Amino acid sequence: MALEVARYLVEPRWWEKLPGDWKGVFGRDAPLAVEIGFGNGEFLAWAAKENPDWNFVGFELALTCFVKAGKRLASAGVENVRLARVDGAFGLRELFPNGSLSRVYLHFPCPWPKARHASRRLVNERLARTLASVLAPAGIFELTTDVDWYAREAADILSSTGRFSVRGPVPLTEGGPDTRYERKWRLEGRRIFRVEAELVRPGKVDRLAEGTMPHARIKGPVPRAALLSLAGLKETWPEGAFVIKEIFLASNERAALVRAFAVDEGFQQQYFIAVVRGPDGWMVKLDGATLPFRTPAVKRSVAAVAAALEKRGQA
Ligand SMILES: C[S@@+](CC[C@H](N)C(=O)[O-])C[C@H]1O[C@@H](n2cnc3c(N)ncnc32)[C@H](O)[C@@H]1O
Repeated sequence: MALEVARYLVEPRWWEKLPGDWKGVFGRDAPLAVEIGFGNGEFLAWAAKENPDWNFVGFELALTCFVKAGKRLASAGVENVRLARVDGAFGLRELFPNGSLSRVYLHFPCPWPKARHASRRLVNERLARTLASVLAPAGIFELTTDVDWYAREAADILSSTGRFSVRGPVPLTEGGPDTRYERKWRLEGRRIFRVEAELVRPGKVDRLAEGTMPHARIKGPVPRAALLSLAGLKETWPEGAFVIKEIFLASNERAALVRAFAVDEGFQQQYFIAVVRGPDGWMVKLDGATLPFRTPAVKRSVAAVAAALEKRGQA
């Protein structure tokens, strides 16, 4: 049944405090491990069953993976796993306190081989900084891949920080995660490589998101023309940008939904900003239906919508 996944899901976008309180989420204090890109959940189900004294968090983006993983976790009968539909690199950095993770697993990430797609590779300097911050001392990042140059590139990036003791890449004949992709690549005769990075010199990463909800009151009227003129409003700065895409106006003209797109250091989000007229005047706030992480770009978009409405309402 598709809803089996519901008991494992967490929605960190709703959390008021970031990084998260994972002891509260799991209802116990235990060593914590993360898998980025859990696919059909095979490895998570196996690892959680093998290690009942650990807690596991899985990040994925593909919706179908959640249904499949939910079934596997339920049939394995495990309770020590939570799944979040969050970009793994962002989730790792924003949702875990410094030094809180014992293990981070990344099995068969897409290598994005073309040079013009290199910025999409999950293992990069930013991930290395995040790992140095969220892993506990002697915590381990484990990468498994069928792509030799990707394994070498990852090992080089991690080594060059001076914060990890890096083993590999080593060809893996046994002891792999035994996932769908491992079996697929082995059937094709590909070699599998493992890189392990143990944290020896912890670092600190700058986080972007926080819990507080941005909102603003508008002094004065908000005429229809001011609302409709918001489309195309945008700002860009070195680390981010936002753009207002479309406006949906309620028939009584006392509310509007503003469709926005924001990017912070490559992390993209789409969401609605609500502009509503209450008893005390107009208010601009994030709409709960598409609640994004409260990043600098998201906060700037809410403030800019309010400022534009105030200015255009008085014009
Ligand atoms: C090649 S599959 C490997 C799946 C699984 N680990 C396995 O070994 O069978 C890569 C998976 O990573 C997921 N993925 C890609 N980018 C991601 C990201 N930024 N955060 C979380 N998951 C991601 C994809 O949706 C896909 O399911």
